[in-house]
Amino acid sequence: MTYHQPITIAVAKGRLLRNTLPLLARIGIQPLVVDMDQTRKLILETSQAQIRLLLIRATDVPTYVQWGAADFGITGKDTLLEHGGANLYEPLDLQIARCQLWVAGYPDTDTRIQRLRVASKYIRTSQAFFQARGQQINLIKLYGSMELAPMVGLADVIVDLVESGNTLQANGLVPLEHICDISARLIANKAAWKMKQATCRYWVDALQAVLSSESA
Ligand code: PRP
Repeated sequence: MTYHQPITIAVAKGRLLRNTLPLLARIGIQPLVVDMDQTRKLILETSQAQIRLLLIRATDVPTYVQWGAADFGITGKDTLLEHGGANLYEPLDLQIARCQLWVAGYPDTDTRIQRLRVASKYIRTSQAFFQARGQQINLIKLYGSMELAPMVGLADVIVDLVESGNTLQANGLVPLEHICDISARLIANKAAWKMKQATCRYWVDALQAVLSSESA
């Protein structure tokens, strides 16, 4: 059994990538580009000849892995909750890029009213949260800068990620209800997991060892 089958890893660009690269470096995977911030390349060869990275939007990572265009992916749990997880394994919580998903708005907002107007890019997660307690809501899909919605009367509350809390605070908003904790996850294509079992196992074990040594 070989441990050296080709592996493609889809990684989310941006903030998540800055957390992901040091972790990959610790298991000996480093992109062969001089300046990560400047490169316009979307496929990166790495210091491991059989491993390449795809640089894509966080929300597209599950799609590439689901369809087998990438064997592994690294993206946030928020993105995975929205995707639904079809055809994916989630073998590891990478314990990086930690934040929380909250219902947020102005202090004293009654979040329990029927027909609460909720603005978010997390449509599925928002729907599930309010539905679980039998509350009907009006959902407004946004793609960013969600904090603006209550401020201009577009929505009563938002459902958004909170890390430091600075963005909410700067706009006079507060976290109202905690939905769940978020962190980056390693995901794997189910077919690749079976067909390249030894190789997949090898890299997951390597990552697990690094995570265990950090939390020890
Ligand atoms: C995220 C999130 C909040 C902010 C929270 O936005 O949507 O706006 O970070 O971080 P904080 O609690 O540390 O202030 P991001 O910067 O990813 O941009 P977005 O508005 O496009 O989602």
